[in-house]
Amino acid sequence: MGLKVLVVGGGGREHSLAWKIAMSPLVEKIYAAPGNPGIAKHAELVPVSVDEVQKLRDFAVANRIDLTVVGPEAPLVAGLTDALAKEGLLVCGPSKAAAQLEGSKVFTKNILAKYGIPTADYRVFDDYDDAEQHVLTHRLPVVIKADGLAAGKGVAVAGTYEEAVAFLKDVMEKRVFGDAGERVVVEECLTGEEASYIVFTDGEKIVPLPTSQDHKRIGDDDTGPNTGGMGAYSPAPVVTPEVEKKAIKRIFEPLLAGMRAEGMPFRGILYGGLMVERGEPKVLEFNVRFGDPEAQPLFMRLTSDLVPLLIQCAQGKLTDAEMKIDPRPTVCIVMSSGGYPGSYKKGFPISGIEDAEKEGGVQVFHAGTALKDGRLVNNGGRVLGVTAVDNDIRSAIGRGYRAAEKIHWEGAYYRRDIGRRALLRSGA
Ligand code: AMP
Ligand code: GLY
Repeated sequence: MGLKVLVVGGGGREHSLAWKIAMSPLVEKIYAAPGNPGIAKHAELVPVSVDEVQKLRDFAVANRIDLTVVGPEAPLVAGLTDALAKEGLLVCGPSKAAAQLEGSKVFTKNILAKYGIPTADYRVFDDYDDAEQHVLTHRLPVVIKADGLAAGKGVAVAGTYEEAVAFLKDVMEKRVFGDAGERVVVEECLTGEEASYIVFTDGEKIVPLPTSQDHKRIGDDDTGPNTGGMGAYSPAPVVTPEVEKKAIKRIFEPLLAGMRAEGMPFRGILYGGLMVERGEPKVLEFNVRFGDPEAQPLFMRLTSDLVPLLIQCAQGKLTDAEMKIDPRPTVCIVMSSGGYPGSYKKGFPISGIEDAEKEGGVQVFHAGTALKDGRLVNNGGRVLGVTAVDNDIRSAIGRGYRAAEKIHWEGAYYRRDIGRRALLRSGA
């Protein structure tokens, strides 16, 4: 009998997960909660949102799910893994305690400091006046982070004291992120180039995915406000084999050992957001899940079965977890609704996806899409992830953009410079 797998989430990351899991000969049936119209090609959709931990547990128990794979952080931080484990069900994702690595910036900074892991110097505040006083004497730019989850909006890299104080007030006094703003981290601004380093881990052993890089800002040349991520590519040349070795030895191994020593071993997917300067990696943040949109180009390069890795992480014993990687680079161009990350209109019909995929070497992953009267429409900020593979980074970028140009809806937007850093480094 094949496995029954539940994918939790409904974005582009989860579409690429479902697409990859569907290729596994081990799997008989995939469910996705809540999923999206793209995921529906591979999975039966379950109308339960990612925040409904009890309902997700009840569904998994009632349907005897063999493996649950959790896309976003919120259910992990809320304790979905613990709830399912209590029922004897396998989950690829950390416990609530270990998920604090994403759920609390204060927790993470303190762990990093305790175990001597390189990161920005910082201080923690729970009193507004103390925080303001410290910020006003800090060198600019200064970085301020709300402690808890804030849907990717809880960090300001402030270039002026006005901006810094305004953000601090929003977080600690106005509580725009609710309880997430009870405490803040104030830290030095790191310079260099960012990269995503994502590993499978059973708490001790790690199996790294290839390197990747996200594009967080809405505008070309990294201008404008932060978003969930406007595109990604793999590999990221800034993470040389040397940098990778340092990241494992100085960051991932001591962190996992630290988490074991603290009595909260980390099992699942650990995503290090790294800043690399002159070959030295430092931690910006950790996420306790795959990146979105990094998952899309990464899974497109993974030629071996993903499911054994997910199961072994869930079981807490990575053994014969061999990964086969397509050496060719991949690029994902995120197409978003006009106005995102601010307000935007939903419900415009989308055309051209089939045309875009006809080219070969192209997968269009759905994120914020919906069906309205039988037509596919935009239904979120990030709508599609046009993902392409080719022999070199320049060709992969070209293939991705040729495909994206075929897709239309009113107000559709995408950055024109996805992958440029890799191109510059490749000297092409
Ligand atoms: P985080 O949620 O911690 O990843 O922060 C979001 C983004 O803020 C990161 O991807 C970086 O671009 C930026 N950032 C966070 N911390 C720092 C820092 N110490 N120095 C410079 N940029 C930072
Ligand atoms: N791509 C950034 C994230 O997944 O957090």
